[in-house]
Amino acid sequence: VRASTRDDALALDAGDSLAHVRTRFVLPPSVIYLDGNSLGALPRGVTERVHDTIEREWGHDLISSWNEHGWWDAPRRIGARLARFIGAEAGEVVVSDSTSVNLYKLLHAAISNRAERSVLLTERHGFPTDRYVIDSVARERGLTVEACEPGAVLARIDERVAVVALTHVDYRTGRRHDLEAVTATAHEAGALVVWDLCHSVGAMPLDVDRAGVDYAVGCTYKYLNGGPGAPAFAFVAHRHQARFAQPIAGWHGHARPFAMEEAYAPAAGASRLLTGTPPILSLVALEAALGAFEGVDLHDVRAKSVALSEWFITLVDERVPEATVVSPRDAGDRGSHVSVAHPSAYAVVQALAARGVIGDYREPDVMRFGVAPLYTRFVDVWDAVDRLVEVLRTQEWRRPEHQIRRTVT
Ligand SMILES: Cc1ncc(COP(=O)(O)O)c(C=O)c1O
Repeated sequence: VRASTRDDALALDAGDSLAHVRTRFVLPPSVIYLDGNSLGALPRGVTERVHDTIEREWGHDLISSWNEHGWWDAPRRIGARLARFIGAEAGEVVVSDSTSVNLYKLLHAAISNRAERSVLLTERHGFPTDRYVIDSVARERGLTVEACEPGAVLARIDERVAVVALTHVDYRTGRRHDLEAVTATAHEAGALVVWDLCHSVGAMPLDVDRAGVDYAVGCTYKYLNGGPGAPAFAFVAHRHQARFAQPIAGWHGHARPFAMEEAYAPAAGASRLLTGTPPILSLVALEAALGAFEGVDLHDVRAKSVALSEWFITLVDERVPEATVVSPRDAGDRGSHVSVAHPSAYAVVQALAARGVIGDYREPDVMRFGVAPLYTRFVDVWDAVDRLVEVLRTQEWRRPEHQIRRTVT
């Protein structure tokens, strides 16, 4: 077999049906951005929308904007728009608060729905915030947390388990759970599921309703490109909404917020997931950002994500013997980033950044490279691996400045 070439990359780009979508993004020309799995790029139109919201809606129309410009309804309206990304119905999703806070709410509600059971089942090595929230909710509710190896989850589900709480795609390795199988197995045992979809939403089609998912959360600043600190979504299946016991009751989740009643009375539907005033500027940024997906089929997004990831893995295998791909080799078991281990991964990521290739580092030795099918090109992957080869050949990662640990890695 002949080795791959840069011309192969250009040919792949020429045949890419999503290639035109890249023009919907503002991308610095000298940068190869492979970190859309952490912070999505800036879609065109977001700046203007946020500017208009500040200047005209806030600056001129002031408080009337809550009514006149749809501020009050934004968490529901944008939730309805997000529903198609996860295969939910419009009234099952709201956008507000962070993933961590939404996870806290959903776990409490799920446990209330299985009050007679004693175990909260999760995986080891998951994203820390999930584990911290899971542990704290379990403490508050008197449940035991069982954290098993990701591959052992199915075998550990039994009738003691109240809730199975997992991240669909692992932040470190990109390993993907079989959402349908875990959900079905949990239900057979009488347990409920809470899925964290942070690393899958916007990178692949999801179908939570068809899979029978009970609850789900996910952030919007990764593949959905909502911007730094964009609020997260929360999904509650219709069948659980009437019983949704809100652990942080607040006025935005009240049935009659402006009646200013002494007692809390939950709103109908997904509105009762809300708590306090949502971040309007971030919500409108997200709403405008979703325009980048206009006319885009998520099956095509997934197909390109797989093709880009396979291309990346092929090139690392061919050209970078010093590094090891630690993501699953089978695309069906993977999300939309590829993780590569190297003993000096942190310094290598810094040296790559100095050469204009942006990936990131995760403890203890992992370099992550995310492919965002809306704007990542096959030639970007080629050039990134080419620079990785150079950084390792010249050993420029050994320079002192590349050893300095920044706050965000
Ligand atoms: C799996 C997962 N859950 C949660 C978060 C972040 O949660 P929050 O939006 O509360 O910061 C991340 C962030 O990268 C994540 O990867």
